[in-house]
Amino acid sequence: MDGLKVEIKPGIYWIGVNDRVKDLFEGIWPLPRGISYNSYLVIDEKVAVIDGVEEGFSQEWYENIERLIDPSKIDYVISNHMEPDHSGSLPFIRRMVPEATIVLSEKAREMLNDFYGIRENVQTVGDGDEISLGERTLRFHEIPYVHWPETMVTYLMEEKVLFSGDAFGTYGALDGGFFDDQVDVDYYIDEMLRYYANIIGMYSIPVQNALSKLGGLSMDVIAPAHGPIWRQDIGRVIGLYDRWSHWEGEKGVALIYGSMYGNTIEAMEAVGRGVISGGCPTLRIYDVSRTSFSILLQECWHWKGVILGAPTYDTGIFIPMDNLLSSLHHKRLKNRICGLFGSFTWSGGAMRKMRGIVDELKWEVVEPEVPFKSHATEEHLEQLEALGRAVAERVMQD
Ligand SMILES: Cc1cc2nc3c(=O)[nH]c(=O)nc-3n(C[C@H](O)[C@H](O)[C@H](O)COP(=O)(O)O)c2cc1C
Ligand SMILES: [Fe+2]
Ligand SMILES: [Fe+2]
Repeated sequence: MDGLKVEIKPGIYWIGVNDRVKDLFEGIWPLPRGISYNSYLVIDEKVAVIDGVEEGFSQEWYENIERLIDPSKIDYVISNHMEPDHSGSLPFIRRMVPEATIVLSEKAREMLNDFYGIRENVQTVGDGDEISLGERTLRFHEIPYVHWPETMVTYLMEEKVLFSGDAFGTYGALDGGFFDDQVDVDYYIDEMLRYYANIIGMYSIPVQNALSKLGGLSMDVIAPAHGPIWRQDIGRVIGLYDRWSHWEGEKGVALIYGSMYGNTIEAMEAVGRGVISGGCPTLRIYDVSRTSFSILLQECWHWKGVILGAPTYDTGIFIPMDNLLSSLHHKRLKNRICGLFGSFTWSGGAMRKMRGIVDELKWEVVEPEVPFKSHATEEHLEQLEALGRAVAERVMQD
């Protein structure tokens, strides 16, 4: 990326990298269009780098810095979050610029030692602490568990720029543009939800706490650690985080089914017809075995209605559906309107176990639940349509 110079405000630059080779983020989540690790440089009387990149990109990151300033002039390296996608390049910068002080939270200090054995020239900061760079000031706000316990954000007070770490981050490399007003923003908003559902969602209460805490800050720019820099419509992304962290789904239904021999598929088609005739035009149908559970989690976070259909398998839930439910349970998604159906041939069992999990999540289960023996009869098909209708009506009511 020769000639790269991405200025956010005078003297504030993006110095991140695009990772277009990793196919699974955190070893789990597909990255069909890559991801960026955003890092920032603030040049004032003192010079600060905010966050790093994954280890393998250290050299490229360093060259981004060199293009803008002699790296030996760096005074501070601020580490908002110790997950290695951001902290992996700290040992590199320590070797190259040993005199730069690493600034982090007290909890992060221990992680820095545990991960990298770095103990010297480290400064810890707490909530509300400030570091003057000369004309401008960095202030730190702890936002524990967004995404790890040590996490903080850095606010550049005079310029009203919030370096928000994983919060407001998205999957997707930065394709030629760096700001929300330069890129296909709908694509990144979609990926922001997938990132939220996959990575941040379990920490929705800490997100709510962080939003209240940061709500008083006046912000011109939100510069997250992944994806585009938000400057055009900051209210939109804050509003989305507020909704997602309160588990508010949009008016729509995700209908997710699994099937071995087609009996549950036939039933699913009837449920789908019911959703549409019940007045909910936004219906998205997914095969649980053939859709990445990264996307299934995203869709469950997206829509108010979630209808699940699966056959009984070895007296339990069809395995891919069991996996999805266990992920939803793990991520503690709340506040959904749910329908359940599925086929069995002798003992049954899937329905009761699915019900057990959604009850623990305190989802509202809409009647009728429709377990059926082997092949759905005409009567079952009517019940299945009624189930789809009932969920649609509840979803549209809210
Ligand atoms: C490997 C396997 C295990 C099954 N285990 C059970 C079971 O424990 N109890 C039961 O009632 N049915 C069980 N079934 C029967 C299926 O639930 C039943 O055939 C159902 O109609 C399959 O739905 P589908 O056509 O949508 O795949 C099992 C079927 C298979 C292939
Ligand atoms: Fe993280
Ligand atoms: Fe991250």
